[in-house]
Amino acid sequence: MYNDNPTLDHLVKTIDPMRQGEVLDFPGHQEKGNGKLFYIESFGCQMNFSDSEIVAAVLHGAGYRSTRNMEEADLILVNTCSIREKAEDTVRKRLYIYNKVKSSKPGTLIGVLGCMAERMKKNLLEEEKLVDLVVGPDAYRDMPKLLESAEDGHRAINVQLSREETYADISPVRLDSNGVAAFISIMRGCDNMCSFCVVPFTRGRERSRDPFSIVAEARDLFDTGYREITLLGQNVDSYHWKNPETGEEVNFAQLLRMCADVNPDLRVRFSTSHPKDMTDEVLYAMAEKENICNYIHLPIQSGSNRILELMRRGYTREWYMGRIHAIRRIIPECAISSDIIAGFCTETEADHQETLDIIRQAQYSMSYMFYYSERPNTYAQRNLKDDVSLEIKKRRLSEIIALQNSISRQLNQSDIGKTYKVLIEGDSKKSAEDFKGRNSQNKMIIFPKNPGLKPGDYVYVEVLDATSATLKGRITQNPQS
Ligand code: SAH
Ligand code: SF4
Ligand code: F3S
Repeated sequence: MYNDNPTLDHLVKTIDPMRQGEVLDFPGHQEKGNGKLFYIESFGCQMNFSDSEIVAAVLHGAGYRSTRNMEEADLILVNTCSIREKAEDTVRKRLYIYNKVKSSKPGTLIGVLGCMAERMKKNLLEEEKLVDLVVGPDAYRDMPKLLESAEDGHRAINVQLSREETYADISPVRLDSNGVAAFISIMRGCDNMCSFCVVPFTRGRERSRDPFSIVAEARDLFDTGYREITLLGQNVDSYHWKNPETGEEVNFAQLLRMCADVNPDLRVRFSTSHPKDMTDEVLYAMAEKENICNYIHLPIQSGSNRILELMRRGYTREWYMGRIHAIRRIIPECAISSDIIAGFCTETEADHQETLDIIRQAQYSMSYMFYYSERPNTYAQRNLKDDVSLEIKKRRLSEIIALQNSISRQLNQSDIGKTYKVLIEGDSKKSAEDFKGRNSQNKMIIFPKNPGLKPGDYVYVEVLDATSATLKGRITQNPQS
């Protein structure tokens, strides 16, 4: 999900919109093109990948077509992440590479989109002189106009944040899609102001998207063959929509049910849940609807109450464990994953031990693990001291990773002998003889192909073997035959 952490290589994903040198014409976007090609890379969270699909739709409307070959592009775009310093360093390195390409093809425009554009604003145009176009996350509709002015050699920048923009009416152009699973943004921004986090500054105020546009998008995806949607928001539990005319209200649990009712064969996932806001109503919706997957990403960040308070997370470890027990009680088969930060300001060895302890208690199927990276203008940067040395941060992080890996391995091994319903996503990375797919718990399972089966089909797979990252199995029964 986040691609600046070398320990998480297997989770890294960068959008490559197309195969080398190929130009895609997207269905439903056949209006005349202007002959220009764009190339886009995305870094950061799933929200950014989803936003790149909005950008692709806007550019398509303006006559651009997408290419996977950077060298032939008229417009090179990078959708950026500011969450940790390393994420921004990665983007800077990419900007030098784009500029090399540009030097052999003058006239090529380079654009920075997303969170780093929002954070750095005109500094990106002025100080770094590596870019022609800077567009923040709420300004993608303005891209055709900005491109015109950049083509005329003017500075093109729009980093205005909005209280309303949800891009509800824009039908995303699916990039690098397996045709089976897609993201749907249900809200934007974040109002939580966790003290370490840059997102409220780069993404602005929280706002929820019209639920009927979400359901329409889900239905559309199902009709074109998709079998899984992931509803995206920084804090999905605070999803709240109110019809300004009728006063009708929809909360997250209700939205989940509406999406699940699109079709029993459409799996519904969501991310990210917030421990302070996750309700039992959501858990009951999950327990009741078979197609709402039994998987919750519920980031703890730290196991120490003192650190949680400094992080301004709005819960204690006792509250958090109460939520874990509610999940286990209402959805016994549910897998839970987490985000963890090592070495936050003033973290002591005792605080760190509490983090290790809660990881043991919560029994996460997996976690995204980071060491603290101070971000400009956050509460922590302004008011707290980043006083844990890099060496200690790294050591604590490696202890957290080692513990999580051993728990993941144990939990996966306890799946051996069980049979799961698996949605086939495509060929396994290692062998075209095998399929890969996920069970409801979001665990990846590799298994030998059966003739007649294809991505998007459901199969029952018995688990025969397991590592800390994947399960291996064999098909026991094909529910569609
Ligand atoms: N909205 C989600 C998280 C979005 S950011 C939530 O509240 O859970 C994804 C993860 O990046 C966070 O959960 C946190 O673990 C990590 N993160 C955010 N800011 C960070 C920082 N300054 N240093 C290190 N990790 C950070
Ligand atoms: Fe950042 Fe906290 Fe909002 Fe998550 S909930 S995006 S960590 S401020
Ligand atoms: Fe990064 Fe922005 Fe997402 S900072 S994690 S791309 S919301």
